Amino acid sequence: MLRVLILGSGGREHAMAVNLSSSPLCEELWVHPGNAGTRHWATKDCPDWRDFGAWSDWVREHYVDLVVIGPEDPLVHGLVDQCKADPRLANLAVLGPDQAGARLEGSKDYSKAFMNRHGIPTAKARTFEASERVSAEMYLHAVTYPLVLKADGLAAGKGVVICASREEALEALDMFWVQHRFGNSGSKVLFEQFLNGIECSVFVLCDGNRSVTLPVAKDYKRVGHGDSGPNTGGMGAVSPPPFVNEFFLNRVEECIVRPTIAGLNQEGVEYRGFLFVGLMKVGDDPFVIEYNVRMGDPETQVVFPRLGQDMLEWMYGAAQGQLPYGVPWVDPRYAVTTVVCSEGYPLEPKTGAMMQWPNEPGDDRYCYHAGTAWKENQVFNSGGRVMAATALHQELEQAVLNSRNLASAVDFDGAFYRSDIGDDLLL
Ligand code: AMP
Ligand code: GLY
Repeated sequence: MLRVLILGSGGREHAMAVNLSSSPLCEELWVHPGNAGTRHWATKDCPDWRDFGAWSDWVREHYVDLVVIGPEDPLVHGLVDQCKADPRLANLAVLGPDQAGARLEGSKDYSKAFMNRHGIPTAKARTFEASERVSAEMYLHAVTYPLVLKADGLAAGKGVVICASREEALEALDMFWVQHRFGNSGSKVLFEQFLNGIECSVFVLCDGNRSVTLPVAKDYKRVGHGDSGPNTGGMGAVSPPPFVNEFFLNRVEECIVRPTIAGLNQEGVEYRGFLFVGLMKVGDDPFVIEYNVRMGDPETQVVFPRLGQDMLEWMYGAAQGQLPYGVPWVDPRYAVTTVVCSEGYPLEPKTGAMMQWPNEPGDDRYCYHAGTAWKENQVFNSGGRVMAATALHQELEQAVLNSRNLASAVDFDGAFYRSDIGDDLLL
């Protein structure tokens, strides 16, 4: 029996918690810091992971067997390394890569160079620093448009600008280098070739040497209908996207997943955790757009409800360097999630409104909480993305409609959602 602590506070962590809590191996589950949806699994007094001494005391005192790290921040800041270096935590399994592995997400410049070193297909790119503005502007004369500009560091999915012209690129450079919109994350900028294709995300669970592929998903990053407006963390997702077939998945495995794990090993990184490969399917060819070193949000809200009660075994195995053999059970139904957001998201979400939503909807519908808070027996919206309304159905069209209906029943002042999630896949 296992005692499990999930770190994070989003819809991703709520979806993981719902799955892991159903495992016959789960003795105790905590989600920290969590949200209103995970309050049944709240800890009373778990310190923040940044206060490592106090946090690790708590982990030991509660006999935690497995820590699942949801978001990228603790990974990029080396929480896994700190756990490994602490002899008092010798029996603790931690799911997530160490700092060296997390660089795949923490620096786009590093991950581009990694892919080039290991022959992994990706868009061509060049990096410029703020001090190289003159050469960067010259370079903008020589490239074709659209051009993609990306902040090198972490920017919560918002540091990417697709520029239709040189003028737009110059404006974007001002945003990175004059207004410092992304702080240090934008001091280096990748100038990347635009790839024209369909996007999907492949999720892999690795134990350092071996891996298993989890269900594929497609997410919807732009805030507005028909993929308009600024990028967000994700407004909805579908799993599996019907355009992904066995042939394409085999190519992804062969050209991307295996060379990535082998490349990490060659460079001395034993990667234990989820690897999220953001892909562009150009014709039949996969290209990596980005790596993330964790599960996606809201993709987890369509991937995890399709996984079975054995996921805890798989995740504990991966964290210990010993994935079980075989493949995890996957529900053949489609899953669709529609994210309900606060007015003003992604720029300045308005929070603090009292909420209502459909309670206990059943085993083909889930309301996963994200930016929600519990105060005096009421639930309030407390972030930009508030709730992911997931529905499962054999027919994609029905899953799309059910998710949308569920989203429409989530009620608070200023709530909005995209009512076209999945429509492009129904043709
Ligand atoms: P990223 O944060 O790198 O995933 O980029 C955010 C979004 O920008 C992606 O999901 C794509 O929709 C788009 N994007 C990023 N890189 C490219 C590219 N090279 N070509 C076309 N679209 C891209
Ligand atoms: N939905 C994209 C991400 O989690 O990065």
